[in-house]
Amino acid sequence: MTKINPYRPGAGMKPMYLAGREDEISEVKQIFDALSMQIPVQSIIYSGLRGVGKTVLINELYTIAESKGIFCRHIEIEEKQDFIAQIATCAQTFLREVSMKNRVKHLIAKSIDSIKSLVISFDPNDSTFSLSLQERDLYKSNSLTQSLTDVFVNIGSVALAAETPLCFFIDEIQYMKSHELSSLIAALHRSNQMGYPLMVIGAGLPKIYKMLSDEKSYSERLFMYKEIGSLNNEQAIDAIVYPVKRFNVSYTDKALEKIIDITKGYPYFIQQFCQIIYNNTDNNTIVEKDIDNSINNFFEVLDSGFFKVRYERCSELDKKFIFAMVHCGKLPCTISNIAMNMNKTVKSISPTRAQLINKGLIYAVRHSELDFTVPEFDGFIKRQSDFIEY
Ligand SMILES: Nc1ncnc2c1ncn2[C@@H]1O[C@H](COP(=O)(O)OP(=O)(O)OP(=O)(O)O)[C@@H](O)[C@H]1O
Ligand SMILES: [Mg+2]
Repeated sequence: MTKINPYRPGAGMKPMYLAGREDEISEVKQIFDALSMQIPVQSIIYSGLRGVGKTVLINELYTIAESKGIFCRHIEIEEKQDFIAQIATCAQTFLREVSMKNRVKHLIAKSIDSIKSLVISFDPNDSTFSLSLQERDLYKSNSLTQSLTDVFVNIGSVALAAETPLCFFIDEIQYMKSHELSSLIAALHRSNQMGYPLMVIGAGLPKIYKMLSDEKSYSERLFMYKEIGSLNNEQAIDAIVYPVKRFNVSYTDKALEKIIDITKGYPYFIQQFCQIIYNNTDNNTIVEKDIDNSINNFFEVLDSGFFKVRYERCSELDKKFIFAMVHCGKLPCTISNIAMNMNKTVKSISPTRAQLINKGLIYAVRHSELDFTVPEFDGFIKRQSDFIEY
């Protein structure tokens, strides 16, 4: 019989126990309370490395917001999936939901028109609205910013009249195209100025902070930026211990110490490692030796999944750049050090740097320093047979 295992490694998998995010959650609960009272609030952006728990946090916040009567929609930006189509669908669903309320009936047609214009002008694959050529011309717009702003302002006014605030959860924001992002910021800015109860909770890799401020300088005031990091000692212990409590299983202090040492408190690593450890033992008390017995297995699983999917997306040139980064020894490292290791000029390696940032594998920590977006990626690189020491 397969053993029931309460650990849940995997992208966006809700853990059995969400450790260490109490402060973030209680802060946002207050913001939701304000929003429920129709008070316009700042939007929030969470940034952090891969596997640190951004998606599960915003999913938890989604559940809380819904329970407070806020209309929520989740959007995941994918490299290939269109943001415009997704936001238009969400706006339509919202209108459908509140359209029966008498107070909003007179506002619905205008809102639908703005969605129509957005979709017709910027989502060429859409067939939701069948219109004649003449009608199409009537709705056609050249400015995404203007169209999206119209949608946000119109649905914002409906939200206010319907007393149903709105929250869009947008995950993987780093994949948004520059013009989409700047339109989103402008639209949100306008609906905020108008005092409408509409907010965004976004999540993405660390580079999103720069992406947003590069687009519009006022985005720094529009959003609250929050960095999500690995769990501290106490929080990591909670993440390890709580899921197995109901099975009457516990860990010795030494075993806990070792798991934290190896996982560095990264939530995904904790879930993955503990799942393996738990599968490999039948004891009610998990000891240090059980951890030792599972280490190889843990790295095999990480190397062939979590790390490999990222590494496989690298060209030969990308790999040389990454090797040179690892060779710097201490991360983050400067671009000039990387260039020196590669025996190249900074200028000549800049396109590779940009490509790796674009692929979401590295990010600029400070002005000229770079690090991996994937925790412990340097260790994985060193384990690769094609790793070349400079
Ligand atoms: N606070 C937490 N306590 C316990 N486990 C957690 C916590 N946060 C995340 N996890 C676990 O970590 C894993 C990764 O979580 P999640 O997918 O939310 O990370 P992410 O930051 O969104 O990663 P990515 O950048 O790759 O999308 C999941 O298996 C999840 O169950
Ligand atoms: Mg995620």
